Amino acid sequence: MSKILVTGGAGFIGSNFIRYILKKYPEDTVINLDKLTYAGNLNNLKDIEGNANYKFIKGDIAEERTVKKVFRFNRPDVVVNYAAETHVDRSIIDPAAFVKTDIIGTYNLLEAIKEFGTAKYVQISTDEVYGSLKSGKFTEESPFEPNSPYSASKAGGDLLCRSYSKTYGLPVIITHAVNCYGPYQYPEKLIPLFITNLSESKKVPVYGNGANVREWLYVLDHCSAIDFLLHKGESGQSYNIGSGVEKQNSITIDLQPNPMICATLWR
Ligand SMILES: NC(=O)c1ccc[n+]([C@@H]2O[C@H](COP(=O)([O-])OP(=O)(O)OC[C@H]3O[C@@H](n4cnc5c(N)ncnc54)[C@H](O)[C@@H]3O)[C@@H](O)[C@H]2O)c1
Repeated sequence: MSKILVTGGAGFIGSNFIRYILKKYPEDTVINLDKLTYAGNLNNLKDIEGNANYKFIKGDIAEERTVKKVFRFNRPDVVVNYAAETHVDRSIIDPAAFVKTDIIGTYNLLEAIKEFGTAKYVQISTDEVYGSLKSGKFTEESPFEPNSPYSASKAGGDLLCRSYSKTYGLPVIITHAVNCYGPYQYPEKLIPLFITNLSESKKVPVYGNGANVREWLYVLDHCSAIDFLLHKGESGQSYNIGSGVEKQNSITIDLQPNPMICATLWR
């Protein structure tokens, strides 16, 4: 029986994770701390809002007082940090929000754990910290080569996590996952954006010739990987999470006849 603090639980992966945990471990309690930015939506958790083992707190992890207060009054056993600014294009327009949440927010969580203690802290990060691949696969030893303010701010948060593990012995696990897909994703991201645009017969934005290759992971597989690491992961380690399923971004659209939209997102 654990008390789990999930930050950013009203977003895409966080809301799937909360639902997953409450279903699999009905004895556990989940506290969801979320600022409710444009990407956070409490409707993502409508079906569990009445669950006695679930509590929502609206708050910003970039505010030290808020974070300390949440720890002081709730004393979580473990923390899983999904709270982040996550959209690459937005990070190019407004990097400040990314630095605040992904770096200062992570720092505040680490400081709170240093003060109050938890059995584990899982920093949810992205394989984008490794940059672009020409060939082969990233490993946990690959160097950080972030290419956008988004991936740079995530890398900054990850490095702080590593340092708090090495310096203060905090029980930190860092995960670097590939692109996720599934329900409750904000429709600015590739798959929901393409589906919503195509269903309204609108154009879809494809960078370059669409030949970029991405690896895709179903969101509940991501949740089960985090569940596994919460129970079996080794503190002080970082883990890459993937599916092995790589697809090109290229699309084929056939608006005729009917008009039927046939979108092959991958080949
Ligand atoms: N979506 C993916 O494909 C993917 C892949 C690998 C890793 N990740 C990582 O997983 C994590 C979650 O991604 P997502 O796609 O679910 O993101 P999302 O954008 O859907 O959700 C982010 C959530 O964090 C909340 N939030 C933002 N700033 C906050 C703050 N300062 N304080 C409290 N809450 C705040 C938002 O309100 C939202 O609910 C991120 O760290 C991301 O880097 C995502």
